Amino acid sequence: VRSLAGRLALTHLLVVLIAVAAMDALVLVAFERLALHQRQVAAFTETNIAVNLVEPYYRPGCPPLESSPGLLEVVRSYATQSGSRVLALDGSGRVVADSMSPAGYTGRTLTHPEVAAALAGRSASRRRYLPTSGWVLYTVAPVLQDKRPVGAVFLATSLADVTQGLAGVARTMVLGSLAAVLVAGLAGVAAARSVTGPVVRLTRAVERMGRGDLGQRVAVRGRDEVATLTRAFNEMATRLQEEDERRREFLADVAHELQTPVAAIRAMAEPMAAGDDPSAPRQADGSDLEVYREFAREMAGQAERLGRLVGDLLELARLESPKVRLTCEEVDLADLARGVLESLRRDAEAAGVDLRAGSLEPVLVVGDGLRLEQVLVNLVTNGLRYAGAGRTVRVDVSREGGEARLRVADDGPGIAPEHLPHLFERFYRVDRSRSRRGGGTGLGLAIVKRIVELHGGSVSVVSRPGEGTTFEVRLPAARGPVKMS
Ligand SMILES: Nc1ncnc2c1ncn2[C@@H]1O[C@H](COP(=O)(O)OP(=O)(O)O)[C@@H](O)[C@H]1O
Ligand SMILES: [Mg+2]
Repeated sequence: VRSLAGRLALTHLLVVLIAVAAMDALVLVAFERLALHQRQVAAFTETNIAVNLVEPYYRPGCPPLESSPGLLEVVRSYATQSGSRVLALDGSGRVVADSMSPAGYTGRTLTHPEVAAALAGRSASRRRYLPTSGWVLYTVAPVLQDKRPVGAVFLATSLADVTQGLAGVARTMVLGSLAAVLVAGLAGVAAARSVTGPVVRLTRAVERMGRGDLGQRVAVRGRDEVATLTRAFNEMATRLQEEDERRREFLADVAHELQTPVAAIRAMAEPMAAGDDPSAPRQADGSDLEVYREFAREMAGQAERLGRLVGDLLELARLESPKVRLTCEEVDLADLARGVLESLRRDAEAAGVDLRAGSLEPVLVVGDGLRLEQVLVNLVTNGLRYAGAGRTVRVDVSREGGEARLRVADDGPGIAPEHLPHLFERFYRVDRSRSRRGGGTGLGLAIVKRIVELHGGSVSVVSRPGEGTTFEVRLPAARGPVKMS
């Protein structure tokens, strides 16, 4: 049997069968013993009564006469009364009266061991099987005079009724047992099915999922182990499906993001290749050189955008790979902030934004210096890009408890509350064209969040429209001594 349900049911059936058969055998043996014992006790009593009845016919020194009418009469009448065959024996084991005479054993000498025992003074009983009459019980008791055996009484009782009773009981028990085994077998099959049924359904769902159909869910019944397994499977399926969905969306977003600059480059490259741009005004001297230059600059700009986008995508892919490796070094966030402020000074001036350091408290964190620098660059660049000319972007570093905090605050237009929960999602932008004009890829904050989380930290944003926006990064501070600089 190859199926689990079949094996379970079969094992169950075998166990029940063996148990029931063993119980039947034990009960029958015990029943037989009890019945036999009762018959033996009764037979001894009857034999003793018979001994009392025949005793008067045994006189000292003179054995009873063979088939003496008195003795024969007593033996016969008691045989009728007790339903057994009754024999009277003299001291040598010779039959002197047989209730079955005239045929009978009269005159024969009996040599059965129970006869020998009785003639030696002890009552004895024994079960024997006779081919003619089946099981019979022989009971022999001595006839005593002056405490010495002078003869014996022999009772032969049929055990047919015991045998028949036993057969009846056996029949009933076997029938009952068969019924019990049948019920147990059916129950076993049902129980086995209830275990393996869900497993079979689960297996089918797993197979379909393996073929790429992620919509698989299996109905959960009960609270047993299989139900727990089923629930875990359903959760896994849901998560896989969501992940699959996200991946699809991301791919669509990437394709969409790449399409725009590629389309722009094509729109400019094609007329240049044809040496003609119908929409461009001809130079006075007929030369297209200036137009070509303009187009080439525009194309270079688009190519740069593409490059940034691909670069950010690569970085995000690296950061999201389970095998991502961060270099581990002690980094002073205040030092890091000063470096970033210095490197972005020009950009700030170009954007007309006042980029300034707030309080920069030295605080060490353990992490990847270049990537932490990327975090700060992304946040400050956003400030420069979205706060607008004439505004201020301020960077603060502080240590609070066991935490290093990095704050980038601006007093720009702020972000409407409905956008805040999505801000760190890939490609999420409040104003796509504005982001694009400023050179944004929509991946900056997603990269920030990933880097911070890889360092065991968190990033949050507080923004009020019209008042400004503050991003706060929290990182676990290193335990080492704070470097004074
Ligand atoms: N300091 C800020 N002030 C206002 N809006 C911001 C600020 N920082 C980020 N944002 C909004 O969050 C969006 C996502 O930022 P980011 O992931 O860095 O993408 P990108 O800057 O490339 O557009 C931006 O497009 C912008 O709408
Ligand atoms: Mg950005």
